[in-house]
Amino acid sequence: MTRSRVLVTGGAGYIGSETVRLLLEEGHEVVVFDDLSTGHRKAVPEAASFIRGRISDTPLMIEALAGVDAVFHFAANIEVAESVTDPKPFWWNNFVGTLTLLDAMVKAEVFQLVFSSTAAVYGNPPSDLVTEKMPLQPVNPYGESKLSAETLIADYCTAYGLCATSLRYFNAAGAAVGGKHGADHAHKTHLVTLCLEAAARRLPCLTIFGTDYPTPDGTCVRDYIHVADLARAHLAALSAFERGVQGSFNLGNGKGHSVREVVECVQKVTGVDFPVKEVARRPGDPAYLVASSGKALDLLGWKPCFPSLEQIVHDAWEWVRTHPKGYGSDI
Ligand SMILES: NC(=O)c1ccc[n+]([C@@H]2O[C@H](COP(=O)([O-])OP(=O)(O)OC[C@H]3O[C@@H](n4cnc5c(N)ncnc54)[C@H](O)[C@@H]3O)[C@@H](O)[C@H]2O)c1
Repeated sequence: MTRSRVLVTGGAGYIGSETVRLLLEEGHEVVVFDDLSTGHRKAVPEAASFIRGRISDTPLMIEALAGVDAVFHFAANIEVAESVTDPKPFWWNNFVGTLTLLDAMVKAEVFQLVFSSTAAVYGNPPSDLVTEKMPLQPVNPYGESKLSAETLIADYCTAYGLCATSLRYFNAAGAAVGGKHGADHAHKTHLVTLCLEAAARRLPCLTIFGTDYPTPDGTCVRDYIHVADLARAHLAALSAFERGVQGSFNLGNGKGHSVREVVECVQKVTGVDFPVKEVARRPGDPAYLVASSGKALDLLGWKPCFPSLEQIVHDAWEWVRTHPKGYGSDI
C-alpha cells in the first residue's frame, strides 16, 4: 500500500487510537485531531502528531489538513441512551461536525475519507443476518445522526469528488491484542466491559435485560467484533481507494453470541463467578443483530483475524486487570 499521511479525528479514543497504532506500524504518518472530550492524550502514541481541537474549528482543521492524503473520522458522541434524552449534542457533533469537516476537506483539497458508522443505522432489521441492502431505519437519535452523516458524505462524493467509505461497526469489543491499550469510557455501557467490571468487583452484579427473547437461551444475540479487526478494516478501506472501491460496509464476525454466552465466557476467562441479576426487557433491543460482512470480504479483502469471543474477552480482561484506572486522569 502507498504510504499516506492520515488525519485521524477522535484518534485519542478507543477505536481511533487502536487504528492510529496500526497506521504507524504500517509506516503511515499520522496526525491525531481530538478535543479529548472522551479520549485520552496517553492513548496517542508519541510517533503521531497531536492537535487538540474540535472538528468544527474550521481554521484549525484546514491548517491540520495541510499535506494530508486521507481522513479517518472517528470523532463523535456515541452513547445511544444519552442520545434519546439529550439529542442536541449528537446532531451538532455527529452531523454538523461531519459537515464542517467535509467542507474543510474540500477547501484543503483532501479527498479521501473513512467514516465510523454503526449497526445502529439499521434499527430493528427484518432478518437475523444483516446485509447492507437492508432498510436503514434507525430507532434512536444516535443512529439517525450517523445515517444522516452517511447521506451527507454520499452527496459530497457525488458533487465534490470525495472518495468515501462508511464502516458500519457491529459491537466493538476487546482491547489491543495483549491488553496494553483499551476502552476507557467514563460511562460504561458495552456488555463485555460491564461483565469485566463485575469480574473486577467494581460493579456489584451484571444485569441482564430480558430473558424471554426468541433466541436459543432467551437473551439477546449480538455480533462482537475485535477492536484490532476494526482498525485493520480502516487500512483495508484506505488501500481499496487505490482500486476505486468505496461505499458502505458492515463489519462483524457473522456469528452471534447471546448475553448469557458472554457472561459465561467472561466468568471462564477471568475465573470470577460474579453475580447476575435478570430483569425485564429494555425498550428498543432487537433479539438478533448479526452482520453479514461478505461485502467487506469481497470488495475490501477484509476478514476478521480475531473472531473468537474468548480472545476478545481475554484481551479486554488483560487491559482491565492491568489498568484499573484506565489511562488515569492524565488529560
Ligand atoms: N464503540 C462502539 O461500540 C462503536 C460501535 C459502532 C460505531 N462506533 C463509532 O466509532 C467511533 C469511535 O467510537 P469510540 O468507541 O472509539 O468512542 P470514543 O468516545 O472512545 O472516541 C471518540 C473520540 O472522539 C473525540 N471527539 C469527540 N467529539 C469530538 C470533536 N467534536 N472534535 C474532536 N474530537 C472529538 C473524543 O475525545 C474521543 O477521543 C464513533 O464515531 C462511534 O460512533 C463505535
